Amino acid sequence: MRIILCGFGVVAQSFAKLLESRTAELYTKYGLKPRIVGVFDSKGSATDSSGLNLNKLLSVKKKYGTVGNYQKNSEKGGVNMIHSIDADVLIETTASNYKDAEPGLSHITAAMKAGLHIISVNKGPLALAFPSLMELASYNQVLMRFSGTVGGGTPILDYAKNSLSGERIVSFQGILNGTTNYILSNMHSGMSFETALTDAKKRGYVEADESLDLDGLDAAAKLVILANWIMGMKVTMPDIKLTGIRKVNDEIIKNAEKNATATKLIASCNGGLEVSPKQIPINDPLCVNGTLNAISFTSEHSGTQTIIGRGAGGTETASSILRDLIDIRKEISRF
Ligand code: HSE
Repeated sequence: MRIILCGFGVVAQSFAKLLESRTAELYTKYGLKPRIVGVFDSKGSATDSSGLNLNKLLSVKKKYGTVGNYQKNSEKGGVNMIHSIDADVLIETTASNYKDAEPGLSHITAAMKAGLHIISVNKGPLALAFPSLMELASYNQVLMRFSGTVGGGTPILDYAKNSLSGERIVSFQGILNGTTNYILSNMHSGMSFETALTDAKKRGYVEADESLDLDGLDAAAKLVILANWIMGMKVTMPDIKLTGIRKVNDEIIKNAEKNATATKLIASCNGGLEVSPKQIPINDPLCVNGTLNAISFTSEHSGTQTIIGRGAGGTETASSILRDLIDIRKEISRF
């Protein structure tokens, strides 16, 4: 499978390392022979129709800060590359942007029109245009997979869609943002909001634009993806009622503790779609601490089930890309 990789940040580099270390197993176990034929970052690009040398690519990126130094005469990346080289799958890993979803949205739509299957770990295009992207994928007869957008390496979407298939999920609620969960957990351990935020920043948890975590945009984007994919709704970001954690203070934290609950940023689908701080009983399986994510699905016949795991991280999210790639391979080999 020939792959174009959009973006070469932490997740894409972890994916390249994962491919490099699993080459033989991917072929024997899944018949999968992935070749990255094009990659670009914000400063340059590299292409090779017979497959780029991944170790060289990683060391060039480390040394020069861009893949553009991989070869002489680096061509323009972005939509130009998608139009100019032959590939089967586009993997979109550029940063999520909830204003206009660019540049990821243009990469995905150009690739779909060119007949490429899509794997996106970029949440922006899905948060702002999920219903129309699904239509475009179906019109162009391509597959779109995005399991890393919710829960990182924890297969939340797959669990709800496939493991619970045949069931009717009636509602769900979850902690979908690890950074705010880390901050709120530390506030329950006695830290002020400011100290907890500074600590989270030092550990590299907080997004470059802190508003995405603190004001609930990241959790809202994940809720949009779940609502569309799991509940069959046709919604985008403006449909979410959104409150972040900036107003959670010591008084709210202490009151929660008096009632044997903890304050969590909860994304819920129960009639309406909402992201807001809520009090969760400390003995509820959903009440996880630190950077963990957790989500409880309530189904018509099998009751409430909770899935817990790490929701972010380079290697975790890279593993979700591989999962999607294997899934696409299986789907297309059926025809
Ligand atoms: N900022 C996100 C989080 C990263 O804290 O969960 C993963 O989407």
